[in-house]
Amino acid sequence: MNVPFVDLNAQYREIRRDIKKPLENLFVKSSFILGEDVKLFEAEFARHCGTNYAIGLNSGTDALFLSLLSLGIKEGDEVIVPVFTFIATALAVSYTGAKPVFVDIDDKTYNIDPEKIRKAVTKNTKAIIPVHLFGQSADMQPISAIAKEYNLKVVEDAAQAHGALYQGKQCGSLADIGCFSFYPTKNLGAFGDAGMVVTDSEKIYQKIFMLRDCGRKGRYEHAIKGYNSRLDTIQAIILRAKLTKLDKWNKLRQENAKYYSQLLKDEKNITLPQSAKDASHVYHIYAVRIKDRDRIYEELRQKGIGVSIYYPMPLHLQEAYKELNYKKGDFPVAERVCQEIIALPMYPHMNKKQIKFVSEQLKKVLNG
Ligand SMILES: Cc1ncc(COP(=O)(O)O)c(C=O)c1O
Repeated sequence: MNVPFVDLNAQYREIRRDIKKPLENLFVKSSFILGEDVKLFEAEFARHCGTNYAIGLNSGTDALFLSLLSLGIKEGDEVIVPVFTFIATALAVSYTGAKPVFVDIDDKTYNIDPEKIRKAVTKNTKAIIPVHLFGQSADMQPISAIAKEYNLKVVEDAAQAHGALYQGKQCGSLADIGCFSFYPTKNLGAFGDAGMVVTDSEKIYQKIFMLRDCGRKGRYEHAIKGYNSRLDTIQAIILRAKLTKLDKWNKLRQENAKYYSQLLKDEKNITLPQSAKDASHVYHIYAVRIKDRDRIYEELRQKGIGVSIYYPMPLHLQEAYKELNYKKGDFPVAERVCQEIIALPMYPHMNKKQIKFVSEQLKKVLNG
């Protein structure tokens, strides 16, 4: 049996009928840039998050970048980010001219360790970007308390956490700004690149609204030097259809994760995902830790199981950030996790047979 890492085709089959007509209408109308569906999707996504505003963008990376610009982050500033995340979290900081300052992660949730944030704050620190990694909220209460104490802004990187909750509230709605990616494999994924910013602040909304569209305030009147970071109307149509399934698909992911954990719980050599208090995990990624990870990875791939390594290298050891002069040993928790972590196949439409097969094969290679 082959089990892929994700199965996007199964999602397509579920929304196929719903998108056919709206796509046809769009092709006839040819309103491809900021058409009506973008506005409708923004309103629907803001409602889902429980925020006043949502602004559709071309990617999660630009969602982070424009968010930081809207807060006035610039050269000479520092922004605190976890050292274990997708590099876009840090790149967005670099694009503004500011410096990303890395902080180690919690050993159980793999999210930024709030205890270690305080030590990274300097007089130049302007903001913190907690990432809700793998679909589980960062511990926002202590993070917000530190931000308040030092007068810092908080931008949530919710690229992997659509629909995840923290103390009953949606990830993305817990701080000054929430940023989402709709990269195809995300829990809410487009048929290409797409992203979104959500906020309760009218001022931030107005600023990002202009930034995403060449700084426009009229057709050919430009108030600021903006960017072309708009959400495509085609993607908005796909995402509107998928948003109606998000909560159901997240529930299926949670059921799949529960079944994995039930089948693997007696294996001594595996660390299963751990749920933090106050957070609901939506399992964008179901990641386990294994000492002998590289061998296990190779053997499972040979058996046709689509395992993946999220992430093999922490940001401070990436060549792209060599100018920051970090070294091996600076972030011991993240470095250890990078050596041990392995993501098992996870998607809403996985069936029990597949989960059982993956778990059995994993146990076999572990013990033999
Ligand atoms: C944690 C995190 N931040 C940011 C991004 C960037 O999003 P995008 O690929 O849509 O630019 C991603 C996903 O790719 C991500 O996983």
